[in-house]
Amino acid sequence: MEKQRRIKIAGTGFYVPDQILTNADLEKMVNTTDEWIVTRTGIRERHIASAEQSTSDLCIEAAHRILRHAHLEVKDIDLILVATSTPDNIFPSTACRVQQGLQADHAPALDISVGCTGVLYGMIISQGLILSGIAKRILLIGAEVLTKVTDWKDRSTCVLFGDAAGGFVLEESHDDSGMLSHYWKADGSLGDLLILPAGGTRIPASVQTVAEGLHYLQMKGNEVFKHAVKHMAEAAEEALKRAGLNKEDVDIVIPHQANTRIIDAVGERLRLPKEKVYVNVDRYGNVGNASIPIAVHELKQHKKLRPGINIILDAFGAGFTWASIVYRW
Ligand code: ACO
Repeated sequence: MEKQRRIKIAGTGFYVPDQILTNADLEKMVNTTDEWIVTRTGIRERHIASAEQSTSDLCIEAAHRILRHAHLEVKDIDLILVATSTPDNIFPSTACRVQQGLQADHAPALDISVGCTGVLYGMIISQGLILSGIAKRILLIGAEVLTKVTDWKDRSTCVLFGDAAGGFVLEESHDDSGMLSHYWKADGSLGDLLILPAGGTRIPASVQTVAEGLHYLQMKGNEVFKHAVKHMAEAAEEALKRAGLNKEDVDIVIPHQANTRIIDAVGERLRLPKEKVYVNVDRYGNVGNASIPIAVHELKQHKKLRPGINIILDAFGAGFTWASIVYRW
């Protein structure tokens, strides 16, 4: 039988800004407690971009680290993808800023805007581009500066988010490692449950939109919670089925790090022991598209990714969108 062609992760890395905001700091800013935040979300601290730092700045820092870990140079990359919900501008794309920052004049560059599922969508798109010969080596970065679209007076959202960038170099695999299967979905009918209402063409920015706080992220938290758990579990099960694997074959699950209650509920639905489900949301908060690349890099640094193990990457985000990838390390 002909061997299935796959793409693999050939480099990982991430960057977080220096400034840390703890739950104790938040207690001084809004009517909340460390105990409420930890119980409901598992988050203890998050990194915050400086006034001068935008999403592309975080991406460029991360890109240098990813390339260094992969022992590659900018010239080795022939496409730049940036998955983000918090671009520098509506246009030009954040990816073009990154291209300029890296002096990657030869590389086309584009953004992927699908909420927190962007890195998984980016991997699936990269598989098509690499295996069809359109691109050889892709730099895929997931990045957010969510704290600049957060209403710091809204205690129900401001405790949740952090800023970060992380990513992968992707290329064709020539051994057994790589992406075994994927599952991706979207449902635009639920878009209003997690939305940044103003500043686009539906509600252009105005004095009134700013006065009403419509330039900040808005979320129906408990609705998002229910959909996230249901669809992340569904996506993981479907991707496993497509890979021809069972739950017993899974060594590590790397879910999007929104909060521990979502992560625990997904793990329970999949009936996977807690030790197999990676959690780092306590240290970063929800960093959107940066969350899965950071988790993969940390696991790699901690030597938890032995060759041959099966990993599930699983995400859900605004749109709604959701996706899962089964990956053999
Ligand atoms: N501190 C103290 N009290 C708070 C806070 C806070 N920071 N925030 C809300 N409360 C209060 C509310 O006002 C409410 O009080 P009331 O009962 O007197 O009205 C009470 O806590 C319960 O509020 P709920 O919103 O029902 O709290 P819930 O248990 O749903 O937890 C949370 C909120 C953590 C946001 C939860 O809904 C959740 O995890 N949602 C998932 C959303 C998410 O993580 N989205 C991220 C983006 S999507 C993604 O990345 C997958």
